[in-house]
Amino acid sequence: MKYKGKFIVFEGPDRCGKSTQANMLNKYLTSLGFDVVITREPGGDSVAEEIRRILLDPTNTVSPMAELLLYEASRAQHTEQKIIPALEAGQIVICERYTMSSCAYQGYGRGIDMEIINRLNSIATRDVKPDLTLVFLMSDKYFTERGEYLFSDRLELEDEAFRHKMRRGYREVAAKTENAVIIDADRPVAEIEASVLEEIKKHNILEGSKTV
Ligand code: TMP
Repeated sequence: MKYKGKFIVFEGPDRCGKSTQANMLNKYLTSLGFDVVITREPGGDSVAEEIRRILLDPTNTVSPMAELLLYEASRAQHTEQKIIPALEAGQIVICERYTMSSCAYQGYGRGIDMEIINRLNSIATRDVKPDLTLVFLMSDKYFTERGEYLFSDRLELEDEAFRHKMRRGYREVAAKTENAVIIDADRPVAEIEASVLEEIKKHNILEGSKTV
Protein backbone atom coordinates (compact mmCIF):
# COMPACT_ATOMS: atom_id res chain seq x y z
CA MET A 1 0.00 0.00 0.00
CA LYS A 2 1.24 3.51 -0.77
CA TYR A 3 1.13 5.97 2.11
CA LYS A 4 1.07 9.75 2.12
CA GLY A 5 4.16 9.89 4.34
CA LYS A 6 7.76 8.88 3.62
CA PHE A 7 9.75 6.18 5.38
CA ILE A 8 13.54 6.49 5.78
CA VAL A 9 15.51 3.73 7.51
CA PHE A 10 19.05 4.01 8.91
CA GLU A 11 20.87 0.68 9.03
CA GLY A 12 24.34 -0.64 9.78
CA PRO A 13 26.59 -2.32 12.34
CA ASP A 14 26.76 -1.09 15.92
CA ARG A 15 28.69 2.16 16.42
CA CYS A 16 28.66 3.05 12.69
CA GLY A 17 27.36 6.55 13.46
CA LYS A 18 23.79 6.05 12.26
CA SER A 19 22.20 7.60 15.39
CA THR A 20 24.26 10.76 14.91
CA GLN A 21 23.19 10.95 11.26
CA ALA A 22 19.53 10.15 12.00
CA ASN A 23 19.41 12.93 14.60
CA MET A 24 21.14 15.37 12.25
CA LEU A 25 18.65 14.61 9.49
CA ASN A 26 15.74 14.97 11.93
CA LYS A 27 17.00 18.40 13.00
CA TYR A 28 17.58 19.51 9.43
CA LEU A 29 14.18 18.43 8.10
CA THR A 30 12.42 19.85 11.16
CA SER A 31 14.22 23.17 10.63
CA LEU A 32 12.83 23.22 7.09
CA GLY A 33 9.34 22.84 8.58
CA PHE A 34 8.70 19.16 7.72
CA ASP A 35 6.60 17.01 10.02
CA VAL A 36 9.10 14.36 11.17
CA VAL A 37 8.92 11.40 13.58
CA ILE A 38 12.16 9.78 14.72
CA THR A 39 12.03 6.27 16.14
CA ARG A 40 14.04 3.07 16.51
CA GLU A 41 14.06 -0.71 16.51
CA PRO A 42 13.93 -2.71 18.64
CA GLY A 43 11.62 -0.36 20.53
CA GLY A 44 9.89 2.87 19.57
CA ASP A 45 6.76 2.08 21.57
CA SER A 46 6.32 1.16 25.26
CA VAL A 47 5.75 -2.58 24.66
CA ALA A 48 8.50 -2.80 22.04
CA GLU A 49 10.89 -0.96 24.42
CA GLU A 50 10.23 -3.69 27.03
CA ILE A 51 11.12 -6.32 24.44
CA ARG A 52 14.27 -4.30 23.65
CA ARG A 53 15.34 -4.46 27.29
CA ILE A 54 15.11 -8.29 27.28
CA LEU A 55 16.98 -8.54 23.97
CA LEU A 56 19.89 -6.30 24.90
CA ASP A 57 20.42 -7.37 28.53
CA PRO A 58 23.89 -9.01 28.52
CA THR A 59 22.92 -11.26 31.45
CA ASN A 60 20.22 -13.01 29.34
CA THR A 61 20.93 -16.17 27.35
CA VAL A 62 18.58 -16.12 24.36
CA SER A 63 18.34 -18.90 21.77
CA PRO A 64 18.74 -17.72 18.13
CA MET A 65 15.13 -18.48 17.16
CA ALA A 66 13.72 -16.84 20.30
CA GLU A 67 15.93 -13.85 19.56
CA LEU A 68 14.57 -13.57 16.01
CA LEU A 69 10.97 -13.90 17.20
CA LEU A 70 11.46 -11.23 19.86
CA TYR A 71 12.88 -8.81 17.27
CA GLU A 72 9.93 -9.61 15.01
CA ALA A 73 7.43 -9.16 17.87
CA SER A 74 8.94 -5.77 18.61
CA ARG A 75 8.78 -4.95 14.89
CA ALA A 76 5.12 -5.99 14.57
CA GLN A 77 4.14 -3.85 17.56
CA HIS A 78 6.19 -0.84 16.44
CA THR A 79 4.99 -0.98 12.83
CA GLU A 80 1.35 -1.30 13.81
CA GLN A 81 1.38 1.24 16.64
CA LYS A 82 3.77 3.87 15.37
CA ILE A 83 5.06 3.59 11.81
CA ILE A 84 1.81 2.97 9.93
CA PRO A 85 -0.19 5.70 11.77
CA ALA A 86 2.61 8.22 11.10
CA LEU A 87 2.79 7.30 7.41
CA GLU A 88 -0.99 7.50 7.12
CA ALA A 89 -0.85 10.96 8.68
CA GLY A 90 1.67 11.99 5.99
CA GLN A 91 4.69 12.36 8.31
CA ILE A 92 8.30 11.64 7.42
CA VAL A 93 9.39 8.67 9.55
CA ILE A 94 13.09 8.29 10.35
CA CYS A 95 13.70 4.87 11.86
CA GLU A 96 16.97 3.46 13.19
CA ARG A 97 17.02 -0.19 12.08
CA TYR A 98 14.27 -2.24 10.49
CA THR A 99 13.98 -5.56 8.61
CA MET A 100 17.51 -5.48 7.19
CA SER A 101 18.94 -5.77 10.73
CA SER A 102 17.28 -9.17 11.15
CA CYS A 103 18.69 -10.32 7.80
CA ALA A 104 22.22 -9.21 8.75
CA TYR A 105 22.29 -10.21 12.45
CA GLN A 106 19.96 -13.21 12.72
CA GLY A 107 20.37 -14.40 9.10
CA TYR A 108 24.07 -13.93 8.29
CA GLY A 109 25.25 -13.60 11.92
CA ARG A 110 23.32 -16.43 13.57
CA GLY A 111 22.81 -18.54 10.45
CA ILE A 112 19.00 -18.68 10.49
CA ASP A 113 17.45 -19.54 7.11
CA MET A 114 16.82 -16.35 5.15
CA GLU A 115 13.48 -17.64 3.90
CA ILE A 116 12.21 -17.78 7.49
CA ILE A 117 13.50 -14.27 8.15
CA ASN A 118 12.01 -12.80 4.98
CA ARG A 119 8.65 -14.41 5.74
CA LEU A 120 8.61 -13.12 9.33
CA ASN A 121 9.74 -9.66 8.22
CA SER A 122 6.90 -9.55 5.76
CA ILE A 123 4.32 -10.61 8.39
CA ALA A 124 5.64 -8.26 11.10
CA THR A 125 5.69 -5.22 8.84
CA ARG A 126 2.53 -5.99 6.86
CA ASP A 127 4.88 -5.46 3.93
CA VAL A 128 5.47 -1.81 4.69
CA LYS A 129 8.72 -1.05 2.86
CA PRO A 130 11.05 1.93 3.32
CA ASP A 131 11.17 4.60 0.61
CA LEU A 132 14.90 4.77 1.33
CA THR A 133 17.26 2.59 3.38
CA LEU A 134 20.68 4.10 4.12
CA VAL A 135 23.16 1.42 5.10
CA PHE A 136 26.17 2.85 6.96
CA LEU A 137 29.21 0.62 6.68
CA MET A 138 32.43 1.35 8.55
CA SER A 139 35.66 -0.63 9.11
CA ASP A 140 35.60 -2.99 12.05
CA LYS A 141 38.51 -1.13 13.74
CA TYR A 142 36.09 1.72 14.57
CA PHE A 143 33.82 -0.71 16.42
CA THR A 144 36.60 -1.34 18.95
CA GLU A 145 37.89 2.25 19.01
CA ARG A 146 34.47 3.80 19.51
CA GLY A 147 33.44 1.27 22.13
CA GLU A 148 36.45 1.54 24.40
CA TYR A 149 34.64 3.39 27.16
CA LEU A 150 31.08 2.29 26.34
CA PHE A 151 28.82 -0.24 27.99
CA SER A 152 28.35 -3.21 25.60
CA ASP A 153 24.88 -4.70 25.14
CA ARG A 154 24.25 -8.42 24.49
CA LEU A 155 24.74 -8.18 20.71
CA GLU A 156 27.80 -5.95 20.98
CA LEU A 157 29.50 -8.68 23.01
CA GLU A 158 29.57 -10.96 19.94
CA ASP A 159 33.03 -11.64 18.48
CA GLU A 160 34.77 -10.31 15.38
CA ALA A 161 33.74 -13.33 13.27
CA PHE A 162 30.07 -12.57 13.99
CA ARG A 163 30.57 -8.91 13.06
CA HIS A 164 32.30 -9.95 9.85
CA LYS A 165 29.35 -12.17 8.81
CA MET A 166 26.83 -9.48 9.76
CA ARG A 167 28.70 -6.85 7.73
CA ARG A 168 28.81 -9.15 4.69
CA GLY A 169 25.07 -9.63 5.21
CA TYR A 170 24.47 -5.89 5.01
CA ARG A 171 26.47 -5.64 1.79
CA GLU A 172 24.73 -8.54 0.09
CA VAL A 173 21.20 -7.74 1.25
CA ALA A 174 21.56 -4.01 0.47
CA ALA A 175 22.67 -4.87 -3.08
CA LYS A 176 19.43 -6.83 -3.60
CA THR A 177 17.05 -4.40 -1.87
CA GLU A 178 15.05 -1.81 -3.74
CA ASN A 179 15.77 1.79 -2.62
CA ALA A 180 18.75 0.75 -0.45
CA VAL A 181 22.06 2.63 -0.64
CA ILE A 182 25.40 1.88 1.02
CA ILE A 183 27.04 4.91 2.64
CA ASP A 184 30.77 4.85 3.41
CA ALA A 185 30.79 5.62 7.14
CA ASP A 186 34.60 5.71 7.49
CA ARG A 187 34.51 9.42 6.52
CA PRO A 188 34.10 12.57 8.65
CA VAL A 189 30.57 13.29 9.95
CA ALA A 190 29.98 16.31 7.67
CA GLU A 191 30.89 14.33 4.55
CA ILE A 192 28.55 11.50 5.54
CA GLU A 193 25.79 14.04 6.16
CA ALA A 194 26.28 15.47 2.67
CA SER A 195 25.88 11.94 1.20
CA VAL A 196 22.69 11.44 3.23
CA LEU A 197 21.19 14.67 1.92
CA GLU A 198 22.17 13.76 -1.63
CA GLU A 199 20.28 10.45 -1.34
CA ILE A 200 17.25 12.20 0.18
CA LYS A 201 17.19 14.41 -2.89
CA LYS A 202 17.79 11.59 -5.38
CA HIS A 203 14.93 9.55 -3.91
CA ASN A 204 12.49 12.50 -3.96
CA ILE A 205 11.77 12.09 -0.25
CA LEU A 206 10.76 15.69 0.30
CA GLU A 207 8.51 16.15 -2.71
CA GLY A 208 4.94 16.55 -1.50
CA SER A 209 5.92 15.92 2.14
CA LYS A 210 3.81 17.51 4.82
CA THR A 211 4.99 20.56 6.77
CA VAL A 212 3.82 21.49 10.27
P1 TMP B 1 20.89 -0.39 18.81
O1 TMP B 1 19.47 0.06 18.70
O2 TMP B 1 21.61 0.28 19.89
O3 TMP B 1 21.59 -0.41 17.51
O4 TMP B 1 20.85 -1.91 19.36
C1 TMP B 1 20.10 -2.86 18.81
C2 TMP B 1 20.90 -4.13 18.70
O5 TMP B 1 20.03 -5.16 18.25
C3 TMP B 1 22.05 -4.06 17.72
O6 TMP B 1 23.15 -4.77 18.21
C4 TMP B 1 21.51 -4.79 16.50
C5 TMP B 1 20.53 -5.77 17.08
N1 TMP B 1 19.41 -6.12 16.20
C6 TMP B 1 19.30 -7.41 15.71
O7 TMP B 1 20.15 -8.25 16.00
N2 TMP B 1 18.23 -7.72 14.93
C7 TMP B 1 17.25 -6.83 14.61
O8 TMP B 1 16.29 -7.15 13.88
C8 TMP B 1 17.37 -5.47 15.13
C9 TMP B 1 16.32 -4.46 14.82
C10 TMP B 1 18.47 -5.16 15.92
